[in-house]
Amino acid sequence: MKPNQLVPGIHRVYARIGSRDLFEGIWPIEHGVLLNSYVVQGSQKTAFIDLVKDWEGAVDEVEGQLASLGLSFSSIDYLVLNHMEPDHTGSLGELCRKNPSMKILCTKKAVPLVKAFYGITEQVQAVTSGDSIDLGGKTLVFEETPNIHWPETMMTFVPEDGVLFSCDAFGSFGQYDHCFDDELTKEEWDLLIPETERYYANIVSSFSQFVLRGIQKLANLEVKMVAPSHGIVWRKDPNRIIQHYKRLAEYMNGPAEPEIAFVWSSMYGNTAALIPTIKQAIEEEGMIVHMHEVPAEHASYVLASAWRSSGLVIGMPTYEYRMFPPMYHILDVLERSHVNNRKVMRFGSFGWSGGAQKQFDPVVNTLKWDCLGTVEYQGAPSDADKAQAREIAKLLVKSVKEVCTGY
Ligand code: FEO
Repeated sequence: MKPNQLVPGIHRVYARIGSRDLFEGIWPIEHGVLLNSYVVQGSQKTAFIDLVKDWEGAVDEVEGQLASLGLSFSSIDYLVLNHMEPDHTGSLGELCRKNPSMKILCTKKAVPLVKAFYGITEQVQAVTSGDSIDLGGKTLVFEETPNIHWPETMMTFVPEDGVLFSCDAFGSFGQYDHCFDDELTKEEWDLLIPETERYYANIVSSFSQFVLRGIQKLANLEVKMVAPSHGIVWRKDPNRIIQHYKRLAEYMNGPAEPEIAFVWSSMYGNTAALIPTIKQAIEEEGMIVHMHEVPAEHASYVLASAWRSSGLVIGMPTYEYRMFPPMYHILDVLERSHVNNRKVMRFGSFGWSGGAQKQFDPVVNTLKWDCLGTVEYQGAPSDADKAQAREIAKLLVKSVKEVCTGY
C-alpha cells in the first residue's frame, strides 16, 4: 500500500487489519478496521502522529510506507501520542529502541500510562491545551479532549493546513480502498455510515457527553480536514462527520431516531410466540423495527441498533428466577453505554415462577426508561396476553412518535 498525501508535507501511513480478531477483544470487525498514523514534515523537524499496534504485520507495513517517503522511524523528531490505547501505541517499545532520541509528546495524564504500559520514562514530554511545537512552516497545536476515548486523550491540529488529527473521534470500523471522502464509491459509503455508527456505539458511546464538549472546543478551530486514526480522511466535507458524531452523541439521552429495536430471547418458543403479534402491531403504524435475536446476534450489533432507536422491545423469559443470562449481558452492555431515556415494553414466558421482571426493573430505573407495559405469562401466551401485547405495542409506537416530533 502507498501513503496518502493530505497536503504537501502531511501523509497518512496506515495498516489494514482483517476480520480475524475482535476489536478490543470484544467487538467483531467483519469488514476489518484501519489503523491510521500520520507524518507531518516541517522544514526543520518531522513528527509522527499516533502509532499502530503490531497487528497482522502493521508495523512493517507502516515502515515500508515511510521508506517510500524517504523516511524511517529513526527520522522522527517528535512522536505525538494523542491516546494511549494499545491499538495506537502497541509498537511504542519497539519504536523507542529504534529511535531513542525522539521526543514523545502526550498529555500529563498519559505520562504514567506510557510508563505503566511500556516502562518508558525517558523521552516523554507532557503537553497541555494550547501548547505548540514548531516543525518549521508547520505547527502542531494540542487540544486536550478527555474521554474521547480515554481520560488522557488529546487531538493535534496543524493550523497552517487546517488538519485535525482526532485519533478515535470521528473514526469508523471497516476498510476502504480510498482514503478521502470525495473519493469513496457508493459501496464504500454504504459500508462507511453503518460502520461509523457501530464503531461509535461500541467504542465511544459511553463518553457521549465528552464528545459534545470536544465538538464545542473544535468550534474555535478552522478545521479543513479531519484525519482520524480509524476509517477515512474527511477533506471535502469535514463538518459532515463532526455533525454526524454530534447527532450520535445526542442519542445518549434521546430522543434518537423514530425507530424500534426489538431484542428477544426464547428458550422453547413460548416467549417467541408473542413476536408476530408485537411486530405486526408496530409495523401497522409504519414504524421501522430492527429485529435482534439474542444470543444468536452479537451484542455489538444490538447495541448499535438500540443506540439509534428511541423505542425498545425486550422479549426475555425467566431463567432460574432471574433474567435470561444472554439478555442480562445485553442489558449490562446497554447500561454501560448509558442508552438512556428510551420508550420500552417487555414480554416473556416463565415456567414454574417469574423473576425476570424483578431483576429488569432496576435496569429500567437506572437508564430512566419509560416502560409502557409488561406481558408476562406462564407457559404459552393466551389470547388475552396477545391482546394486551398488541395494545402496549401500539402505545409504544405512539410514545416514540411523540418524543421524536421535530427529529
Ligand atoms: Fe482506537 Fe481508544 O483506541
